[in-house]
Amino acid sequence: MNVLLTGAAGFVGRPAVDLIGAEHDVTAFDIRPVEHYDRAIQGDVRDYATVEAAMAGHDAVVNTIMAPGASYRMDGPGFDINVRGFLNLLEAARQCRVRRFVHTSSGAVHTGYPADTFLTHDLYPLRASGMYALSKLVQEELARNYHEQYGLSIACIRPWSIIDAERMVTTDGAPVHGYSFGTIDRRDVARALLCALNAPDIAYECFYVFATPGGYKKGDVARTEARLGWKPVYRFDVDL
Ligand SMILES: NC(=O)c1ccc[n+]([C@@H]2O[C@H](COP(=O)([O-])OP(=O)(O)OC[C@H]3O[C@@H](n4cnc5c(N)ncnc54)[C@H](O)[C@@H]3O)[C@@H](O)[C@H]2O)c1
Repeated sequence: MNVLLTGAAGFVGRPAVDLIGAEHDVTAFDIRPVEHYDRAIQGDVRDYATVEAAMAGHDAVVNTIMAPGASYRMDGPGFDINVRGFLNLLEAARQCRVRRFVHTSSGAVHTGYPADTFLTHDLYPLRASGMYALSKLVQEELARNYHEQYGLSIACIRPWSIIDAERMVTTDGAPVHGYSFGTIDRRDVARALLCALNAPDIAYECFYVFATPGGYKKGDVARTEARLGWKPVYRFDVDL
């Protein structure tokens, strides 16, 4: 498939370019340059014309765009990037008759529930705590609506705390001093995106991904394994 991978310069996006690129023809899209990758488009997801032009000719889209951490203030662009930008991707995917839309969502869509809640793919309503989480909630609701209105095939992957287990850093380069039940390596998230891209029968579906014993108790990741054939390669020995 011809795949448009958005957020391709990012912590998850960059390994996803290489992993998905080994099986599919990947065009990278990001507001920043994508290092060591020639087939890249530099553009802002908030600009619909740019997004639709980038989407043309692609069979699928894998989205990993995230607004920077400090930008979710009311006067910052974070909500606009995550929500308006995401709506641009959905609409462009519809216009370009994309066959599969894979989105990197987040366990943040359930952070408004009590801590002992078992997290499932179909726990509704979504309940978010904080502005970033709210933007992830709105993304999922937009995606669900685009499936219901227009039949777009959409898979949402829900990781929790993504790290690079080799360099021991988080997405913003901060050192990792300890693991939590939600710890997962960025390459395992990228692998889940690939599995969701290749899965034959997705209507609208969300998938928790965990890589710790505590994570398996916290959410229905066993279902993700069964549905997508995904398993974490990097595992962390943390209980709840
Ligand atoms: N990092 C985590 O711990 C974590 C946890 C759960 C879910 N997620 C989700 O995983 C996904 C990937 O996160 P990440 O850690 O790789 O983030 P990241 O910040 O490393 O990467 C995001 C990419 O989006 C790009 N981007 C930002 N604004 C843009 C714009 N206006 N137009 C085009 N591109 C733009 C950035 O340049 C960057 O390369 C996000 O959807 C995030 O919500 C992350």
